[in-house]
Amino acid sequence: MSVQRGAAASAGAAGALFPMDKMIIRGGVPLRGSVALSGSKNACLPIMMASVLTDEPLVIRDVPRLRDVRTAMELLTGLGVAARWTGDHEVELNARHLHSHDAPYELVKTMRASFVALGPLLARCGRARVSTPGGCAIGARPVNLHIAGIRALGARIQLRNGYVEAHAATLTGARIWLDNPSVGATENIMMAAVRARGITVIENAAREPEVQDLARLLRAMGAQIEGAGTHVIEIEGVERLHGAEHSVIPDRIEAGSLMVAAVITGGDLVIKGAPLDQLDAVIAKLIETGAEITVANGDLRVARNRPLMPVELRTLPYPGFPTDLQAQMMALLTQAAGTSVITETIFENRFMHAQELLRMGADIVMKGPTAIVRGPAHLTGAPVMATDLRASMSLILAGLAADNTTEVSRVYHLDRGYEALDQKLRAVGAQIERAPE
Ligand code: EPZ
Repeated sequence: MSVQRGAAASAGAAGALFPMDKMIIRGGVPLRGSVALSGSKNACLPIMMASVLTDEPLVIRDVPRLRDVRTAMELLTGLGVAARWTGDHEVELNARHLHSHDAPYELVKTMRASFVALGPLLARCGRARVSTPGGCAIGARPVNLHIAGIRALGARIQLRNGYVEAHAATLTGARIWLDNPSVGATENIMMAAVRARGITVIENAAREPEVQDLARLLRAMGAQIEGAGTHVIEIEGVERLHGAEHSVIPDRIEAGSLMVAAVITGGDLVIKGAPLDQLDAVIAKLIETGAEITVANGDLRVARNRPLMPVELRTLPYPGFPTDLQAQMMALLTQAAGTSVITETIFENRFMHAQELLRMGADIVMKGPTAIVRGPAHLTGAPVMATDLRASMSLILAGLAADNTTEVSRVYHLDRGYEALDQKLRAVGAQIERAPE
């Protein structure tokens, strides 16, 4: 399988060590058929980090075979966690012989989600040393809220040599207000607080389904958590957590990306196992563009038979429209008849895909956090370069709608978060091939 071929060739997690594959797409084919979702990357990564909280095994199912999951396994292995695949999509993690509390720069810089190791390591070991993640293609993405929250639980925290060093013989519950509902900070604080003494209340917490999935796992491990999925999460610390089995939720961002693939190609796709209740904002926006969306036997059917209409779109924390689908929507809206306005409110630099879409013939003007997209533009295939995970998907979607051949390079970004995407798209009619760059 090509995704694994890329990953297997890796000696480490750094992008440079992966073969620089590209995707070659011949556009113009409406996608038809049914496609199954993988487990959610963004739910799975913090769940894997939670393994550190117990000396008993965690069995995690519906784990997507992704580069980021491999990086997480590499990080955990370095800490002394016995991590192994026990099935196609099943992983067993056992932190009985945890021997390190150190998450090194080499891994954290390649995958920011590693930073959520801070909370569980501190809770288990009384200390943690986790590299700060450094720069990111989509925005500054500071970790100040993570640190302030963990400090509020009584940890002494120092920043030294690019590392956050945290110490706490015992953590004590506290009331923590997040300046903004950060997903990662909510998860990090939750994982520190589950073993703290007393009650922690996280106010203005992130409500994302991935936070809820982590809370479900932690409860299965014996944690006392209420309110996950609301703005106020209350955690009563317990002395010890035990092993558990857990199935990761399906990937709502993969679902949204495939929905856009159906709409942009004027196709008709059934998306099996789509988490309908998590996709309200996406469904509503796609219907506004002219998509037909129905539910049959619990599966989502997405089709389009008429011209696309422009929309206004603003990314927001859940349950608002997800920033992780903004790039894909931009590709789609290049094909709508009229002017669409996209405002990105979560990350300050998440329009990198626009420059590449322009090279394919899109008409996009950016003004600060807003992109004005005029359509329908006649997209023609071009060599384009992916800059991050969702940008890669945006370019692939544009390629599916473009004339001629589009070559998307640096697809190692894509392999971080979409499992076997080329295979899934080929199975519903797309002309897409992976080739070495
Ligand atoms: C998670 O990132 C996701 N990653 C992102 O997915 C997603 O885009 C993002 O949430 C928003 O939904 C994972 O779950 C692994 P945040 P996270 O903390 O937790 C600011 C993808 O493509 N902020 O909710 O890092 C931050 O700069 C990715 O799969 C602070 O100011 O996002 C941003 O503007 C990319 N201080 C906003 O909050 C902090 O301490 C939201 O970030 C933390 C965050």
